[in-house]
Amino acid sequence: MNVLKTKDLTKIYGSGTTEVIALNHANISVDQGEFVAVIGTSGSGKSTLLHLLGGLDSPTGGNVLIEGNDIFTMKDDARTIFRRRKIGFVFQSYNLVPVLSVYENIVFPIQLDGGKIDKNYIDSIIETLGLKEKIHAMPNQLSGGQQQRVAIARALATKPAIILADEPTGNLDSKTSQDVLSLLKITGKKYNQTIVMITHDEAIAQMSDRIIRIEDGNIVKGGD
Ligand SMILES: Nc1ncnc2c1ncn2[C@@H]1O[C@H](COP(=O)(O)OP(=O)(O)OP(=O)(O)O)[C@@H](O)[C@H]1O
Ligand SMILES: [Mg+2]
Repeated sequence: MNVLKTKDLTKIYGSGTTEVIALNHANISVDQGEFVAVIGTSGSGKSTLLHLLGGLDSPTGGNVLIEGNDIFTMKDDARTIFRRRKIGFVFQSYNLVPVLSVYENIVFPIQLDGGKIDKNYIDSIIETLGLKEKIHAMPNQLSGGQQQRVAIARALATKPAIILADEPTGNLDSKTSQDVLSLLKITGKKYNQTIVMITHDEAIAQMSDRIIRIEDGNIVKGGD
């Protein structure tokens, strides 16, 4: 089954002379466990697509189905809860909470949802991402790559079915980018998570199972 599907997903910003068709009748589908890269030039609509997939923004037209559920027919509160349980986000800026330790940052989304911490699972994420020595460190004591790995660990913490990542390695050098990406790929396969990752870097995109290409708001290749 498609874990993620869009139907004619469209986003238009502004109106009249300032109108921008950021996403134009996009149809994509992603299977459970697939690692998909979305590639396109700056302004092509990548972030717009990702925000809509995660229900962070609402479309002008079309639908987003997650495990068959149309997320934009849900009430706002229901969608927020659904998103928290199903989706992990990784952004280019790591958005770690500066006053919390690495460990506290990682388990933060679980606590936000009042959930129980699965210690074995969290330990295994920390191990896989090579953060064991750093769990008591504060974010400002970490390198960029380490902070990015914490952000990934935090996205994985709630065992989301889907990871949505917007240029997760945008601030890292190419060697660290490849390392972080390999880890994301490994954890994704290990926990059967679906990953949709935005990049404008061909080499990074090549690490995925499939590449979706977007140009001027149109999916031109690899949508399904
Ligand atoms: N809030 C907004 N209001 C108006 N226009 C917007 C808004 N957000 C994005 N756009 C426009 O929509 C188009 C797609 O933007 P988007 O952020 O999705 O691009 P992107 O592919 O993520 O680019 P980048 O690689 O630079 O991050 C652009 O033309 C952008 O200017
Ligand atoms: Mg963007």
